[in-house]
Amino acid sequence: MNAKDKPVISIKDLVVGFGDQTVLDHLSLDVRKGEILGVVGKSGGGKSVLLRTIIGLLPKWHGKIEVLGVDLDTATEQERRALERRWGVLFQQGALFSSLTVRQNVQFPMRENLEISQRLMDEMALAKLDMVGLTPIDAEKFPAELSGGMTKRAALARALALDPEIVFLDEPTSGLDPIAAGDFDALIETLQRTLGLTVYMNTHDLESLYTVCDRIAALADGRIVALGPMETMLECTHPWVQTYFQGKRGGMLTNRLEQVN
Ligand SMILES: Nc1ncnc2c1ncn2[C@@H]1O[C@H](COP(=O)(O)OP(=O)(O)O)[C@@H](O)[C@H]1O
Ligand SMILES: [Mg+2]
Repeated sequence: MNAKDKPVISIKDLVVGFGDQTVLDHLSLDVRKGEILGVVGKSGGGKSVLLRTIIGLLPKWHGKIEVLGVDLDTATEQERRALERRWGVLFQQGALFSSLTVRQNVQFPMRENLEISQRLMDEMALAKLDMVGLTPIDAEKFPAELSGGMTKRAALARALALDPEIVFLDEPTSGLDPIAAGDFDALIETLQRTLGLTVYMNTHDLESLYTVCDRIAALADGRIVALGPMETMLECTHPWVQTYFQGKRGGMLTNRLEQVN
């Protein structure tokens, strides 16, 4: 395997839990450079726990995780901080600091990590906001003054503040109406293409999975039970995956795939 094919995220035999509860049970997963990976699984199944463990916010009981070739367990403090600058995260809840304007929110990681003038930070923040479809007027608003879709866009702009190579998105379209969700999906796809990002996205949005994800990872019983394009999900015999993708809500996708093939 040459360096180019090396996975950007490599997870081997991961076990994570709380007290008596095992949430992730010997889970393995590789994420490829430049792909949009959608992670699905039932609510409470461990999607957020997995994401938070990958970025080092939750301790693991067992297993090995490498991100961009770095193992957080053995990395020095300096290596860890350098690695953290190479990814951006959009959390499911608490996406923005409510006491800061949109512009100040986007500048927050810049202020923490870069030694640059306020003027340059202003220019950079407006450029990031423009990338996600927000205007200089939006930049001066506070989070409470934004719609759901605008909040997600602002949070995405903040995740992109340091020009990351990987973005982690936890349920980015949950709570959005179908049109706002579709617009956000299209934005993710455009950014992924223009910036060459690797996108790791937790989602239960079938439309997102169908339209933007290159591969889907199905998380059930604490493990990845299926990994591949939508066809793989439709062929999977795991009961949860079958119910989810071939049940009532999935029926539309089967029809659409049949039309395409
Ligand atoms: N900090 C925590 N302390 C204790 N239990 C937790 C914690 N975070 C998550 N859990 C538990 O882990 C399981 C998986 O949660 P989560 O990853 O949030 O699911 P989801 O797939 O919906 O994102 C749930 O049972 C949840 O209650
Ligand atoms: Mg979650």
